[in-house]
Amino acid sequence: MIDKYNRTIDYMRLSVTDRCNLRCKYCMPESGVSKKLHREILRHEELVEIVKAGAQVGIKKIRLTGGEPLIRKNIVELVKEISNVEGINEVTMTTNGLLLKNYLNDLKEAGLTRINLSLDTLKSDRYKSITRGGNIEDVLSCIPLILAAGLSPLKINVVLIGGFNEDEISDFVELTRHQNIEVRFIELMPIGEASRWTNDKFVSNQKVLEVVELIKIDKTHPSSPAEYYKLKDGVGKVGLINPISCSFCVDCNRIRVTSDGKVKPCLHSDQEIELMKALRNHEDIVKILRVAITSKPKEHLINDKEYKPITRDMNRIGG
Ligand code: 5AD
Ligand code: SF4
Repeated sequence: MIDKYNRTIDYMRLSVTDRCNLRCKYCMPESGVSKKLHREILRHEELVEIVKAGAQVGIKKIRLTGGEPLIRKNIVELVKEISNVEGINEVTMTTNGLLLKNYLNDLKEAGLTRINLSLDTLKSDRYKSITRGGNIEDVLSCIPLILAAGLSPLKINVVLIGGFNEDEISDFVELTRHQNIEVRFIELMPIGEASRWTNDKFVSNQKVLEVVELIKIDKTHPSSPAEYYKLKDGVGKVGLINPISCSFCVDCNRIRVTSDGKVKPCLHSDQEIELMKALRNHEDIVKILRVAITSKPKEHLINDKEYKPITRDMNRIGG
């Protein structure tokens, strides 16, 4: 479907749970998330129905997000059913990778086309600290497996955090020299927990260009929020995502659905459209999705003086 600003909206990010097996400091409070009642979270069949309705309004690509999508029960079956929906030609997932080894082959067989891994450091002690307890080996060991499974390019999302991982920029870039990996540096966004962090933690990803010598290359997809670069002899790519200093809203192609059944037309707005009541009827879901797409704002207002950070934590949106 085409929205009011002539953007084709064909991408849905579907959060399948707000729970996570980590507690990244910028994403979640230490205590985790308040446990939702089962009924407040979209059911398996409802998720599939939403994707079917999405396909009807022109959604072609689905990204499953969380919290951590792999802790959802029957996630492989969900991938399978979603990939079989007519009109959906890409099903991807953003995961922290901790449980990926157990599921990788089944997910591929079920129709998953690509994976984005969230990994903010390559050092074991730092990983344990930023995630409040994660074991980095579980993540690092699945990188070769993902590449071997042909789920490429593998994208690795690195949130740059002042005083934490600035000194690892070149180590991350190095991963792209010999492997079909896209390392994407993301500027920390003032969302939820992170909106309470002080300014010195926010690092502009121009810093990446100061630290390593990279060649600018064309975007493969115009609506990608990343600007792409590569090492001179690099196989993979380096992406810079700066949602704050540079606006990619003109090419935005996405809507988000949260695990508690709200459609978010824009990540940086608190506007949410209730889906729960529409779930019994396919046409009602279609209608709500159309309303959401029609009400997509022209752009985010992060740089406005009046802007207030949104209140939902990232684990409850899915990035
Ligand atoms: N700013 C930028 N990225 C964030 N993520 C979570 N919270 C933030 C934030 N405040 C990232 C995660 C993951 C993706 C889903 O979003 O690291 O890669
Ligand atoms: Fe979990 Fe991702 Fe949030 Fe970390 S950033 S707590 S891995 S949802």
